[in-house]
Amino acid sequence: MPSEPNQEEIEIRPFRIEDQPFLERVAPRIRPGRTASPRDPAALDQFFFDLGSGRLLSEPGAEAFVATVASEPCGLVSVHPDVDYFTGHPRAYVDVMVVAAEVEGKGIGRALMDYVERWARDRSCREVVLDVFAENHGAIAFYDRLGYRPDHVRMAKPVE
Ligand SMILES: CC(C)(COP(=O)(O)OP(=O)(O)OC[C@H]1O[C@@H](n2cnc3c(N)ncnc32)[C@H](O)[C@@H]1OP(=O)(O)O)[C@@H](O)C(=O)NCCC(=O)NCCS
Repeated sequence: MPSEPNQEEIEIRPFRIEDQPFLERVAPRIRPGRTASPRDPAALDQFFFDLGSGRLLSEPGAEAFVATVASEPCGLVSVHPDVDYFTGHPRAYVDVMVVAAEVEGKGIGRALMDYVERWARDRSCREVVLDVFAENHGAIAFYDRLGYRPDHVRMAKPVE
């Protein structure tokens, strides 16, 4: 795999069942450390270790896409059609977004989000939305660089 892929060398195709081992390898990268919600850390870790294609594509209309360089999977995004809670306008919701650690910072995440934005426009969505854990500063910086801004912020306080 070239160390610095050009945007032209990054290809994006639908997720295939053969991509499952790649998904299993990279999905744990999404799991957060501490969260404001009193989630059982082991249960939270398990969620990301168990992230298979069933859960990836559980929402109606969901689709997942894999970025490859030289045919090697190196990133994955999944998205489903959604509507704004308040106004009902159509939007695209990104469920999973992850790039393999060894190829971070080479434009693969941007290529995947560009693809999602085209997917959204093709379906007449007004926006692309996603959730990110508040402590995931790297991902927040990435989305900010791509033009995403905080919309609503969920506050949590354990009462146990
Ligand atoms: C967040 C993530 C998807 C970014 O993917 P990536 O391929 O490294 O990102 P890119 O190389 O396409 O970067 C695109 C832009 O964002 C910036 N960026 C990416 N990661 C950044 C970081 N941690 N801090 C600051 N800026 C960052 C890049 O500098 C680049 O800006 P530029 O084009 O102006 O140079 C990747 O780091 C990842 O998989 N993280 C772990 C999983 C995760 O947290 N997923 C998100 C869950 S909501």
